[in-house]
Amino acid sequence: MPAETMRPEAELQIVRKPLPHDSAPRHVTGTAAYIDDIREPSGTLHLAPGYAPIASGRIVSVDLSAVRAAPDVVTVLTAEDIPGANDISPKQIGDDPALATDTVRFHGQVVFAVVAKTRDAARRAAKKARFVTEAAPPVIDVAEATEKVLADYAFVQGDPDAALATAPVSFEDEFRIGGQEHFYLEGQISLAIPGEAGEILVHASTQHPSEVQHVVAHALHVPSSAVTVEIRRMGGGFGGKESQATQWAVLAALAAVKTGQPCKFRLDRDDDMIMTGKRHDFRVRYRVGHDENGLLQGVDVALDARCGHSEDLSMGVVDRTMFHSDNSYFYPNCRVLTRRFRTNTCSNTAYRGFGGPQGMVFAERMMDQVAYRLGKDPLEIRKANFYGGRGRDRTPYGQQVTDNLLHELVAELEADCSYWERRAEIAAWNASSRILKRGLALTPIKFGISFTLMPLNQAGALVHLYRDGSVHLNHGGTEMGQGLFLKVAQVVAEEFGVDMGKVAITATRTDKVPNTSPTAASSGTDLNAMAALAACNEIKDRLYAFIEQKWRVRRDKVNFRDNRVFFDNQSISLAELANAAYVERISLSSAAHYRTPVISWNRDKAEGRPFYYFAYGASCSEVTIDTMTGEMRVDRVDVLHDVGKSLNPAIDIGQIEGGFVQGMGWLTTEELVWDKQGRLRTHAPSTYKIPTASDVPEHFIVKLFQSDGAREKTIYRSKAVGEPPLMLPISVWCAIANAVASVRPGVVPQLDAPATPEAILKAVRRALSGDA
Ligand code: MTE
Ligand code: MOS
Repeated sequence: MPAETMRPEAELQIVRKPLPHDSAPRHVTGTAAYIDDIREPSGTLHLAPGYAPIASGRIVSVDLSAVRAAPDVVTVLTAEDIPGANDISPKQIGDDPALATDTVRFHGQVVFAVVAKTRDAARRAAKKARFVTEAAPPVIDVAEATEKVLADYAFVQGDPDAALATAPVSFEDEFRIGGQEHFYLEGQISLAIPGEAGEILVHASTQHPSEVQHVVAHALHVPSSAVTVEIRRMGGGFGGKESQATQWAVLAALAAVKTGQPCKFRLDRDDDMIMTGKRHDFRVRYRVGHDENGLLQGVDVALDARCGHSEDLSMGVVDRTMFHSDNSYFYPNCRVLTRRFRTNTCSNTAYRGFGGPQGMVFAERMMDQVAYRLGKDPLEIRKANFYGGRGRDRTPYGQQVTDNLLHELVAELEADCSYWERRAEIAAWNASSRILKRGLALTPIKFGISFTLMPLNQAGALVHLYRDGSVHLNHGGTEMGQGLFLKVAQVVAEEFGVDMGKVAITATRTDKVPNTSPTAASSGTDLNAMAALAACNEIKDRLYAFIEQKWRVRRDKVNFRDNRVFFDNQSISLAELANAAYVERISLSSAAHYRTPVISWNRDKAEGRPFYYFAYGASCSEVTIDTMTGEMRVDRVDVLHDVGKSLNPAIDIGQIEGGFVQGMGWLTTEELVWDKQGRLRTHAPSTYKIPTASDVPEHFIVKLFQSDGAREKTIYRSKAVGEPPLMLPISVWCAIANAVASVRPGVVPQLDAPATPEAILKAVRRALSGDA
């Protein structure tokens, strides 16, 4: 039986069921253990970070004597304590020290770590350091940056310059897209427990246990085999724990080795916000040429990313901005250029959508601008430019769009939410409302699924069948609330035909499944469920052969269901079968592997097919703005989203709702502000406003697009759902622009993201003054 054999649709009993999250009761009763809930081994010590008061410059000297002398301090870690590599960067880039030495590259860069008997004592002591520094003027904004963390990179298709020169209409535009703090409820945390003979166990809140393992091993100068990383669940990761969980793990491990005691590093919320990277913010400048109907002919866009002080994941993140700068639209001739600036700010990193959302915001802004300039409805312009039709299916990076659902999906949503009737009603309402103005927008998404760094598109799983018929499941994916563990367990329960309760979901551990990829790029289920399926099928293969030999029944007459195995007019329990196989010395355990087929990407040549498939969706949002105060309310949201054939509609709808609200926060209320000295001024919930329950629109309808599922052979024809929904609320941002446009006939709204009240007010003023 090939490893990827799946059950026929009609037989499915557990896959496709809207089961609640396996930890839901534990989440809401406080019994789901996060790392800070693990009972501390006796003698556990606690860390706190210390940093210099500047954002850029040189450390002349640092006097730690008062820190060391502070009550309950056990030791203080500095760079000299690191026996191996002082580098926490992914892929050993070497530009991101765990503890800075003589140069400071951003305000909050950790220089030393205090290890004390209590967290409070460590934090108080950390404040007592005396730094002598030579400050240099920090580079904060992309507009003033010159140094890059990586070389410029571009996709070019056709002849954009010629197309722009000959297009009947062309214009230029510039705007800003803000960054975003992850604001995971559980902050960065690691607990390191020293074992015998130099072994160490690290409980780390990380999306990438294998990387934590490798970085800790390099820092401690021990083999990877001496380090085990375990994570049962995160209280949210959202990309912020893909590469940036390593520093705290390294420091906790270092402290554990130095003191011989368990050591825990839990960052305070303010420190977490100051020290860890965020979504990349951008300055976008573009030129576009189109015909009288708004059909694009040439697009030339330069996207400038603020990467922060080090490279981190800026290669993949900003590449994904490029991969999604087309969103759903065919660019016949284009140049998509990105420049990745080094600044004296925290190192920006992965964040749900991995740079893709910023590319899409550009595409939607351009659609709006074309429409308002022509005096047309933006939805008409969007639809006219969709991929599809003859010769209109090639992306700026050369991959053909072959599974296009845009036309069908958008038509369905457009009808379902009464777009045109509401458009007319809103126009009439706005005409008689002087202060309040309403806006409406419908925007699509098309999101490429697969890691664009090809080696990451693999996964491993470990499945044991015990003699009592219970199943132990382990794989390389990590659980951060997205329901990955449940979906993979559903697949495993389906294969063995057992109740969900028979499948034990277990913590991710680097000693069970090695060399894993981060749980990221929304591919957790696609990869890990396939590996788990393969492991189940290997065990079942052995059982089929055993049944054939013992009972003379061919495998196609055997069926695993209802916790039993049926064959030849009889059935035995799975436990009986497992036990009988055990007696015959047959292995009931399997470690299997999966790699995504057909994909390829050559970055140097910008050639290949990076994405296995695309996930699609669309949303229609209606807002009201107050043109006197800039306040805004989202009145109604309708979403239609493609998850292929859902493995679990309850989990998928939860991901869509959560992703939508998170993206809405990014584009409306969440604003990061650094002052001229490079200090982040918005480092607490008092100044950084994420959406709350009361910001969820009252009318918020999410539907799954019904189809035969993914064209490619994904796990039960499902599609990834983790990140794409974050991009749906671009319709909220566009609806705000639409409301702004209604203040005066012929206005082309100029709105940056996020559309905070200030930004809205500014855009309204500009519109009223005739400056737009
Ligand atoms: N959902 C919850 N509840 N918490 C999270 O941290 N992270 C998102 C998304 N959904 C996240 C989430 C991100 S950034 C990614 S890449 C995917 O989940 C990762 O999980 P998956 O690949 O299993 O979808
Ligand atoms: Mo998600 S940004 O790929 O961790």
